[in-house]
Amino acid sequence: SFEVVAAASGKEVAVGPNESIAQALTRIGIRVQMSCEQGVCGTCMCTVLEGIPEHRDSYQTDEEKAENDQIAVCCSRSLTPRLILDI
Ligand code: FES
Repeated sequence: SFEVVAAASGKEVAVGPNESIAQALTRIGIRVQMSCEQGVCGTCMCTVLEGIPEHRDSYQTDEEKAENDQIAVCCSRSLTPRLILDI
């Protein structure tokens, strides 16, 4: 698992192996806009302030993914122990 920090509130949550970042954020009361929940539509994209996402979406191009500044929280995970998101 890894930690996600929601920068706006400073709230932090551990994302378990069987839940998405979006589910973990929802669990601690942070509202996440979602639609497809499959990494296709881009509705759930969040800005990454710190940490490196493990991209699992098919919304961003490879070039966009390489910048590591946006993450699809419905399906992507983290390569670093902590991700700080602008949410
Ligand atoms: Fe569609 Fe995440 S909800 S990409």
